[in-house]
Amino acid sequence: MLNLQDSALFRTENYIDGQWVSGGIGHVLVHNPANGEVIAKVTDGDADDATIAVEAAARAFKTWSRMPAQQRATLIRLWYDLIMANADDLGALMTAEQGKPLAEAIGEIEYGASFIEYYAEECKRVKGATIPTIANDRRLQTYKQAVGVVGCITPWNFPSAMIARKAGPAIAAGCTVVIKPDPNTPLSALALCELADRAGIPAGVLNVVVGSDSAAIGKVLTQHPDIAKFSFTGSTAVGRVLMAQCATTVKKISLELGGNAPYIVFDDADIAEAITHCVATKFRNCGQTCVCSNRIYVQSSIAEEFITGLGEAIAALKVADGFADGATLGPLINSKAVEKMDELMADAVEKGAKVLMGGKRHELGQCFYEPTLLTNISPDMRLANEEIFGPIAAVQTFETEEEVVARANDTEFGLAAYFFTRDVGRVMRVSENLEYGIVCSNSGVFSTAVAPFGGWKQSGIGSEGGQEGIADFYATKFHSMGGIDR
Ligand code: SIN
Repeated sequence: MLNLQDSALFRTENYIDGQWVSGGIGHVLVHNPANGEVIAKVTDGDADDATIAVEAAARAFKTWSRMPAQQRATLIRLWYDLIMANADDLGALMTAEQGKPLAEAIGEIEYGASFIEYYAEECKRVKGATIPTIANDRRLQTYKQAVGVVGCITPWNFPSAMIARKAGPAIAAGCTVVIKPDPNTPLSALALCELADRAGIPAGVLNVVVGSDSAAIGKVLTQHPDIAKFSFTGSTAVGRVLMAQCATTVKKISLELGGNAPYIVFDDADIAEAITHCVATKFRNCGQTCVCSNRIYVQSSIAEEFITGLGEAIAALKVADGFADGATLGPLINSKAVEKMDELMADAVEKGAKVLMGGKRHELGQCFYEPTLLTNISPDMRLANEEIFGPIAAVQTFETEEEVVARANDTEFGLAAYFFTRDVGRVMRVSENLEYGIVCSNSGVFSTAVAPFGGWKQSGIGSEGGQEGIADFYATKFHSMGGIDR
């Protein structure tokens, strides 16, 4: 059983209209992926619960959206303070349901909270405009008004930060939200509601409906006429379906979808740095992020040195239960994710990949997979085209800048790309030529609340973080005022 300092953060009912609501259609069982134990039975909400939540959010919108931004900001800032004060417990809940090492989980809590803090400040600065008039008896202005109720579907890989990144700016702008967290990881979402409640965020502003019937709840959140905007983080395949559903009522949409990040190391790079950052971006959250390096390209003249160093760095990772001291690599989310690693490996080996390390399930338990290093990767392999979403580092070689940029761009995805070089001209050229929403040079770390995170091509629509991350929660109204006497 989980040992929390504040056991009231362990919530297992849905949070709708400021109430903890049980009932639903049974229970969602939450498993600890490190050992398979059932750690919670959470109310399994259905489409009716989602509809009730949308109606509550629509009622709350009438008052919340009219509250002066300064007052909203004070409540949201209090929510941030409570999250930070409870970061250890929130991290423990996350490690228990998601598997990531405790230090990484607490890091995610702080990362998520930083969005809430940032948007509590930012909402005070959003402004409309006065446009120079075209006639003496007229005045032209724009207002920024909250769009309305926002439906959100959030993923299991960042059970707290992806909620904070959507709900933070949404409620700061004056919108109200209904969130469907992934049923694998509902506890983090519900604990955030408990803290929002304590912060005094009014009933109906933030609602969470957990449910195993994702399709039915998803339909409510994408088609209910009272929902003005829909925001989703997850795979491109599911994003396409949800986008089509949103078309029926022409909702505003934000989509954070899949990636296939290239990680390019040129021969003039600081190789030690490139190795350290490669491990950080490849093995973060056991390889389960949309921005994990997926295709590692190393210029052939330095390939041997890079691969040797990468192998040593991977060998230093500590695979363990996320609660174990010094753990750096936890389990994958479930056995389906492990099966995918098996399939990708079988395909790669059959097509000629060389396994330098790992390549099989880890003896620690059924969701653990050995950190893996592969070379001899060819473009026809599945792992060169699909998001790996696991701890497999697959290294390819290249000869020229032009060639590697073309190979990096040869994908339907366009979320994040990384490259390492000390040549300043190349830094500019490559950053401009990569067809990605995020390019990161000489580092594998970029995530921050203060800058936009969003994909090009089929990796998504819109951005989260930075000024862009709140802009989509406002609609612009043009006011043309006539009859002015001069
Ligand atoms: C994601 O992979 O979905 C989010 C990663 C991040 O915010 O850094």
